[in-house]
Amino acid sequence: MRRATGFAPGRINLIGEHTDYNDGLVMPIALRLGVTVAATSRDDATIRLTTDAPVTPQHGSYILGTERSDGTWLDRAKGVTAILAREGARIGGFGADVRSDLPVGAGLGSSAAFAIALLRAVSKLFDLAVDDAAAARIAHAAESEFGGARSGMLDQLASVYGRPSDALLIDMRDHDTEVIALPRTIEVAVIDSGTRHEHATGEYNRRRAECEQACVHLGVVSLRDVEARPLDEILERLPSPLDRRVRHVVTENARVRRAVDAVRAHDDAGLGEILDASHRSLRDDYQVSTPELDQLVQLATGAGAFGARMVGGGFGGSIIALTRRGEGRKLATRVLEGYRGDGNLVAVVP
Ligand code: GLA
Repeated sequence: MRRATGFAPGRINLIGEHTDYNDGLVMPIALRLGVTVAATSRDDATIRLTTDAPVTPQHGSYILGTERSDGTWLDRAKGVTAILAREGARIGGFGADVRSDLPVGAGLGSSAAFAIALLRAVSKLFDLAVDDAAAARIAHAAESEFGGARSGMLDQLASVYGRPSDALLIDMRDHDTEVIALPRTIEVAVIDSGTRHEHATGEYNRRRAECEQACVHLGVVSLRDVEARPLDEILERLPSPLDRRVRHVVTENARVRRAVDAVRAHDDAGLGEILDASHRSLRDDYQVSTPELDQLVQLATGAGAFGARMVGGGFGGSIIALTRRGEGRKLATRVLEGYRGDGNLVAVVP
């Protein structure tokens, strides 16, 4: 019997939301929180999973080669083992104990972190030598083929390459990455709204489909290809709501570039304004925010944050609020006092 452990972190995304599947720019920061998988080999072909996370069911099993989606978190493991087998990896059965100090479904990349932690453990257990790039690719395939969400690769790349004290600028066109050191004057409070929208996956996929329709209208492969043209001309050619969706994606990529400049110039207030603008765009043009997220963002700016916005796919989940270093915790307390829901401070980054 062999044992192996794998860990993978969750992430926030400082800026660049819903740009990843449009070949755009993202700027994640890895959290110190994440998912740990402790795996033990078995001498049969059974995969037995167990977790203490607040998910249903907390235990499950299946036989290698019989992976079928059932709409639960177990799908992520099924996706991982099915894809490993398809790629010719030789694995046997194993038991996996899954622990997470990252809230599940809070828009912080828990699903990708689980798949990558599992891949890391399984890679060690069966000497597969899955490297970071392969782990991100396989975890992403597991998500899209067995998870139902046609997500981009932000979460997976952030989990394998992200750093806890710097932002990582990733160009999703070629996965080129650049470390953007965060000024020592700022920190980011991550606040979970405690809400999860039932139709989040369907709405997410619908946004992605709308971007694809817009590309057909504009005769381009991805929305990154329209950046050089005047935005007004592009928007005129699109029916509603495709025009708004495209306006979000194009302006969000521009905001990522401006955010990089603001970080480098140590312009903390300027960076905050860019986050605020991102939230407005996600709320009004991309329409993926919720009243709870809007309220948290409003409370954060009212409490003196440089800026705040929803983070991740939306339809529930978390916000990030940019504050002076050392003030994130205090700000979060004030925000949560005014919040009508059941939220909580997840982390202060870095
Ligand atoms: C979710 C997806 C990512 C990305 C974000 C929005 O987290 O998993 O691929 O699209 O939403 O930026």
